[in-house]
Amino acid sequence: MEEVIKINGGKPLNGTIRVSGAKNATVALIPAAVLAYGKVKIVGIPDISDVKSLEEILEYMNVKVTTPNIDEIVIDTTNMVNKPLVIDAVSKLRASYYFMGSLLGKYKHVAIRMPGGCNLGPRPIDLHIKGFEALGAKIEYDNGNYILSADELIGTRIYLDFASVGATINILMAAVYAKGQTIIENAAREPEIIDCINMLNKMGARIRGGGTSNIVIDGVEKLEGCFHEIIPDRIEAGTYIILAAAMGEHVIIDNVIPYHLDSLISKLKEIGVNISFSYDQVEVAKNDKPYESTNVKTMPFPGYATDLQAPLTALLTQAIGNSKITETIYIERFKHCNELNKMGANIITASPSATVVGPTELTGCDVKATDLRCGAALVVAGLIASGTTTIHDIYHIDRGYEDIVAKLSALGADIYREIID
Ligand code: EPZ
Repeated sequence: MEEVIKINGGKPLNGTIRVSGAKNATVALIPAAVLAYGKVKIVGIPDISDVKSLEEILEYMNVKVTTPNIDEIVIDTTNMVNKPLVIDAVSKLRASYYFMGSLLGKYKHVAIRMPGGCNLGPRPIDLHIKGFEALGAKIEYDNGNYILSADELIGTRIYLDFASVGATINILMAAVYAKGQTIIENAAREPEIIDCINMLNKMGARIRGGGTSNIVIDGVEKLEGCFHEIIPDRIEAGTYIILAAAMGEHVIIDNVIPYHLDSLISKLKEIGVNISFSYDQVEVAKNDKPYESTNVKTMPFPGYATDLQAPLTALLTQAIGNSKITETIYIERFKHCNELNKMGANIITASPSATVVGPTELTGCDVKATDLRCGAALVVAGLIASGTTTIHDIYHIDRGYEDIVAKLSALGADIYREIID
């Protein structure tokens, strides 16, 4: 038995689709909340499986987790116990590694299993470890588990060889209780980092420079509980903007922060998408001109997001001409191309680039989500394709897209879940 998503493609999309809270902020905010002595209430939590895994880890550490509403979580660390995190839930998502920074920061000791997550090629955490060691932590490896410990953490200057999102967040969490000042140089600038810093500062942390390449953390004695609302998910928003560009007659994507989407909106305008945005909405209207090919290179924020590379690739199969896609973040992130080619696309991959020869007719068939954003790309392609597309391994999609079937059905898509043998 397996649950799949089926799409009968070719249907025009109309209406408004609302974006949920940001997955990649949520999976940092929940581990960051354990730094507080008291209750942290976070609203805007997306209903995705990664959140369930993190709640399981919290409860394993005797953290009291309540959910007053579907999109709210209250985290109470009063009776928390810093236990070795070697349970299966840790392996379900890469972001469980954020407990390294928060538990090291709070207790000066953490034991945790190697992180899991999407198979995008090598995903080392050497920069995280470099930061923890610079702060004074000792790192040991025991049978696939990391053990981090420190008599005390002393603020210092840490240069990141790559503007890593995860390393930036993990190190700043370890530094909030360190003695003195920590400066993270060549820090990542993603909005999810700013959101995490905003919540920590509400708790009483002293962190400056969020969104810039230099983040300064002045260690404090204690962090209190707080209330925080999560930013909208720019990758979910971008995915829906792309599928609206593919099949929309008139679609409004609601609850976005437009500057988070600058690079995508610019790229879509380049290929000829009729797109406009207002305060917190993006509007996509059908136009009669076919789309033109373009070239895109993924970069750290504010460059073009690697997480929107696969969905854009699906759209570019409909553009006239050859589009070149270059990955600079995950050079092996092209597994979606094989699946799209099964549907009739003509994509030639030679890592770190892929060339999409368009336009091509897409025909529905059985395809497999190899990771979260591949799954998103296959949804875009399934909406475009003639016939029925059956997407397997949809647990990847459920990690990061709340209610995707319901949201797209409301726009007129013929999309549904089915249990098959
Ligand atoms: C975050 O992953 C996101 N995940 C990813 O989204 C996203 O693709 C990525 O940032 C880039 O924007 C979460 O926020 C949970 P990185 P992260 O550290 O932190 C190399 C999705 O689909 N690197 O910025 O793991 C690494 O190999 C997911 O939502 C090191 O070399 O990304 C990669 O090439 C997928 N050493 C590059 O940096 C390190 O210690 C980007 O990694 C850390 C990273």
